[in-house]
Amino acid sequence: MKDTDLIKQKIDIVEFINEYVPLKKAGRNFQALCPFHSEKTPSFNVSPDRQIWHCFGACNEGGDIFTFLMKRENIEFPEALRELALRAGIELSSPVEQDERLKHIDRLYEINHLASEYYHYLLTKHASGSRAREYLRKRNVPEKLMNTFMLGYAPDGWRNVYPYLKKKRYADEEIVMAGLAIKGDGNYYDRFRGRIIFTLADHRGKIAGFSGRLLKESGEAKYINTPETPVYHKGSLLYGLNVTRDAIRKAESVIVCEGEFDVLSSYREGISNIVAIKGTALTEEQLRLLKRFTNEIRLALDMDFAGDQAARRSIALADELDFTIRVVELPEGKDLDEGLIVNPTAVKQAVNHAASVYDFMLHSARKRYDVTDPYGKKMFAREVLPLFARIINPIVQHHYVKQVAEFLSVSEASILAEIEKETKRRSSIPVPPRQLSNGEQPLTRQERLEQHLLALIVQARNPHEYLKRTIQTLTIDSISSKPVRRIFMILHEKMPDLKLIDHVLPTELTDTYNRAYLKDIRTLLADEQIFDKEFLQTVRELRKLQIKQRISEIGKGMKKKEDLSVLNSEFGKLSEELKKISQRSK
Ligand code: CTP
Ligand code: MN
Repeated sequence: MKDTDLIKQKIDIVEFINEYVPLKKAGRNFQALCPFHSEKTPSFNVSPDRQIWHCFGACNEGGDIFTFLMKRENIEFPEALRELALRAGIELSSPVEQDERLKHIDRLYEINHLASEYYHYLLTKHASGSRAREYLRKRNVPEKLMNTFMLGYAPDGWRNVYPYLKKKRYADEEIVMAGLAIKGDGNYYDRFRGRIIFTLADHRGKIAGFSGRLLKESGEAKYINTPETPVYHKGSLLYGLNVTRDAIRKAESVIVCEGEFDVLSSYREGISNIVAIKGTALTEEQLRLLKRFTNEIRLALDMDFAGDQAARRSIALADELDFTIRVVELPEGKDLDEGLIVNPTAVKQAVNHAASVYDFMLHSARKRYDVTDPYGKKMFAREVLPLFARIINPIVQHHYVKQVAEFLSVSEASILAEIEKETKRRSSIPVPPRQLSNGEQPLTRQERLEQHLLALIVQARNPHEYLKRTIQTLTIDSISSKPVRRIFMILHEKMPDLKLIDHVLPTELTDTYNRAYLKDIRTLLADEQIFDKEFLQTVRELRKLQIKQRISEIGKGMKKKEDLSVLNSEFGKLSEELKKISQRSK
């Protein structure tokens, strides 16, 4: 047996996916809101019988445990294979370590790991770290936190970590690739020098990169970071998540703050459901990552973010992903770290009583615009209404419409009209056509009907019986969708036991088959009569489409004066059949 099959045997897909998204039983399958895109009704299906998943929504794709993990963790097949083998307790027959690209990525993680330990050792144990220890002491970072967050110190010389890694037998190119050394004129030197080191780990604790803060303010950048590398992507990392993820789940809420020291200080004060975005705007990737742990975000950011375009885009994105968004109003001009030194009680209260982002936006705009002036009214409305137009719950939306109307002393109707305009404007922005993988054309009505028919057949209590009945009306050759036609052919010729279909189904057909197998037709399956009627109607519809097509071809033939008598008689027969079908379907 192949490794992959063995692994699939040991890991139940329902159990596995359920750890990521709660699955609900739906007939013989399971359903959930798709973990890969935001949606209101579940279009994500998992089949325990076939051990497959499929999203019929925006993703429009599916697969097995391997493809699920790859998509979910954004990793390639070899890594997924290795991870699942580990979980299944299976020794791979041909080690994945053979994979060159993966080996290369692994080495970058190894380098980062070694460097992290090196920096950490210098900070906590070595004489050269005394100044850094002193600095952290002044900033109220206890030793325990230095360990929890793997803080470190990069000494103030040109070559420290570089020769250390060389001694560990890593190549110059690798050390540069990891972002730890920079190539100068003929020699290499350390990127991080004379800085406190923050280890940037991903949510699984793998070390992706570093951030370094100057010990004393000077002309240099206060913070420098690992550049984009094969393992460090700024936009997908959230500082602290590897440490705080369980606390986030437990609190059912995550505080999103600006920087590393905000995380450390909050954690020290017992606020442990926190991550930092390191001075950038929240990206979609970060939001999706957070969505795995919680549905609520509390933004504890620089307070001028209300007017900031990038921040507003992040809020809109979070809104689309169905987060509850709150805003922590920190004391004037302070970040979390400073606030917690000046007045920890006030900050904790602000965190606990964070207001809805809508209230916050309203307050913030009120402070900034003079609404006694018509122009001020317009600017005020222009700032808050696009946000309020997105509110999905009508009661909540009305609440804010009313407030804006009162505040601007205009009618609610005029505010509603503005919101309406905003909604229209947004919906008139052409949505890019749904992504079809590998450049497929959108399906024709005929192809859609054919796929529906396939779903009815493979999910029927007696598939072979229904196939037989299909073939009495439709010839297999007349099926327009190539994969559906081929599946019909295989079912017809080999009469396989559908439980063992994978033995006879070529892999390029499994996607079409799985889609049909997972299509949610529970309401039809529940009642044999309804099912039968649906089946007959689908077959007839398809036959009608075929006849109409043939008739139009005959029409063209007649114009070209092809063998008229033959065409005429075929036309007569087809018209008669069409009439009968139409009558019967009524
Ligand atoms: N940052 C960065 N690169 C910079 C400046 C800032 O990566 N050149 C990130 C850091 O993660 C920093 C965060 O943006 O923590 C917020 O920046 P800032 O408010 O300037 O720093 P503080 O977090 O207040 O840092 P400190 O308290 O050490 O002054
Ligand atoms: Mn600060």
